[in-house]
Amino acid sequence: MSQFTGNHILSVNQFDRDAIEKVFAVAHSMEPYARRQKRTTVLDGAILGNLFFEPSTRTRVSFGTAFNLLGGEVRETTGMSNSALAKGESLYDTARVLSGYSDIIAMRHPQAGSVAEFAEGSRVPVINGGDGANEHPTQALLDLFTIKRELEYNGKGIDGLHIAMIGDLRYGRTVHSLSKLLCLFDNIHFTLIAPAELAMPDYIIDAIENAGHKLTITDHIDGRVEADICYQTRIQEERFPSQEEANKYRGRFRLNQTIYTKHFQSKTVIMHPLPRDSRMEANELDNDLNSNPNLAIFRQTDNGVLVRMALFALTLGVEDLVAKYERDV
Ligand code: CP
Repeated sequence: MSQFTGNHILSVNQFDRDAIEKVFAVAHSMEPYARRQKRTTVLDGAILGNLFFEPSTRTRVSFGTAFNLLGGEVRETTGMSNSALAKGESLYDTARVLSGYSDIIAMRHPQAGSVAEFAEGSRVPVINGGDGANEHPTQALLDLFTIKRELEYNGKGIDGLHIAMIGDLRYGRTVHSLSKLLCLFDNIHFTLIAPAELAMPDYIIDAIENAGHKLTITDHIDGRVEADICYQTRIQEERFPSQEEANKYRGRFRLNQTIYTKHFQSKTVIMHPLPRDSRMEANELDNDLNSNPNLAIFRQTDNGVLVRMALFALTLGVEDLVAKYERDV
């Protein structure tokens, strides 16, 4: 039993450094199972309710993959129109019902606070897979896990990190959650690069300043940015009042090999929560970076499976039983 057992994961506010280290240690131990060098049936008979009321590729599929790799089964509901929410059923009633069919639920919903509201009606743990522009805690954990691994490769740790966050910092929930987690560490330098209209929300800026970290705010990439991590984001057009409004910003902060070489260090790690918008008018992370060894975006997505396996194991209290239930590969 750990502090995670039986509890919801709704916000990164629930985590301190010890909790993060615990998640990372369990995630690391999941690697042979994720690579299928070993097999475990520790969650045999358990059911994940995977409820995605907003589009998703990697969060939805990696939650399901992680649960399957631990031996469990996955039942999915995708899209609001395919659920009784479209008939006016409340989140509370939906939670009461579906928590009778599942051992744990992962959920994404377009409204901020909706996953927490759902969790109030649930009889099993609920994991937030993204609620509107609010939070994406499992993405933040996998991003931080990736940062830790990438920096270790460069002989550094998270304390003292310089991270540049670029693009839509207003609606991009991943940068909100990641910033809050980074505030738990020491001497972080945040360089926030965004148009004034898409600036990081004040409550995140306050958290950064109150924790005593260094903060640089600008609306353009100027000269050299001596960052360890360049975290690029997509314009979250689905959260803008109109397509026309979103179009004003699409393509404003492109990163390609030429711009990277001009503004960043040769070792700067390039991250993006994905999806990247590959349409010509946006293209915030160009395909010409695909062969750059510092591009960590697909290491992020692979790490997402490890972190989500760890969160399932911890929340269901089986993290110490995974090896006991090993089976032949
Ligand atoms: N990073 C992320 O949340 O991707 P999806 O929207 O594909 O789940």
